[in-house]
Amino acid sequence: EEQSTFTHGVVRIFPDGLLYPGTTPRFLNRIQSFKFRPNDVILITFPKSGTTWMQEILWTMLFNPNLDNPQATQLLLVRSASISVDMMFDTVKLEELNLESMYEALKKLCPGKNVEDGVGVQCLDAMPGQRVIKCHYPLDLMPPDLLDKTKVVYVARNPKDMVGSYYHFYKVIKKIYYKGSMDTFMKLFMDKDVVFCPYWPHIKQAWQKRNHPNLQFVFYEDLKADPQEEIRKLNQFLATGLTEQQLKNVVHHTSFSSMKSRGDPMPDNGLYNQELHQTTGGFYRKGVIGDWKNHFSQELNQEMDKWIKENIGDSSIPFKMD
Ligand code: A3P
Repeated sequence: EEQSTFTHGVVRIFPDGLLYPGTTPRFLNRIQSFKFRPNDVILITFPKSGTTWMQEILWTMLFNPNLDNPQATQLLLVRSASISVDMMFDTVKLEELNLESMYEALKKLCPGKNVEDGVGVQCLDAMPGQRVIKCHYPLDLMPPDLLDKTKVVYVARNPKDMVGSYYHFYKVIKKIYYKGSMDTFMKLFMDKDVVFCPYWPHIKQAWQKRNHPNLQFVFYEDLKADPQEEIRKLNQFLATGLTEQQLKNVVHHTSFSSMKSRGDPMPDNGLYNQELHQTTGGFYRKGVIGDWKNHFSQELNQEMDKWIKENIGDSSIPFKMD
């Protein structure tokens, strides 16, 4: 049985036709007026591009380079806050979720705050000092002076692997329960009918600014091939001054196997069908380059190549497909 896509809880924002969680228009205003701090590090990604990996890298670089910070055992969601967490709380019916552990952690972080209302922004406001802030919104939806004020890291992943990863994710999110085939999912994606689409403006806006001194554009594939080198570049970019040993610590602590061994970033919060999720490997599913080859039919691959060629335009973003 083929199922199209989210049937509720999403909104298309015209004129660009962005397909976003339903609360986005309301939260966009908050983000536009959000008080970023000069030392905040903002992480922007299209979903399934290595967001969680980079969140852990950035947090570890800033706050745990000697791997001795006891806070490192807290949920990543709490340590490295997400500005778009609000959307999730509003889109998903709270009573359907077992969010207790998440709320408990957030309540500790924001004593006296009503965490059910605007939890992301409130918690960010309550967080002292320097912050790592994750966001899936493209640069054009962020405050226009963001790059003048703060450092932004953008992670991109080759679209074949990213969509493959997204497909598995769509299947296990309770609210979506995507039942269609990979081929159908890809067509939906290319037709901009998957949440956070369209993909191309998102990546192109960041690619255009890749030489801006406050933007670091990182490819998932480069990070995978030589994490130490990419983390060294981040060390320069963030002026974190980490030693070789500390860089090694970060590489080790954020490898796929160590992150997987520490458990899912949002353990058992009700977002997923855990049983189904675990059958494909859980949140840390495979973490490799080229897994699309195990899932794409030849026809689908040709179609996607065509789609990439048509859309990449003069940007010539140098994706590595394997
Ligand atoms: P796969 O589904 O291909 O395994 P995001 O955090 O943006 O949602 O991205 C999730 C993807 O990043 C998943 O891809 C996940 O396995 C991968 N990932 C997470 N941590 C990783 C790590 N330390 N190294 C490599 N890949 C990682």
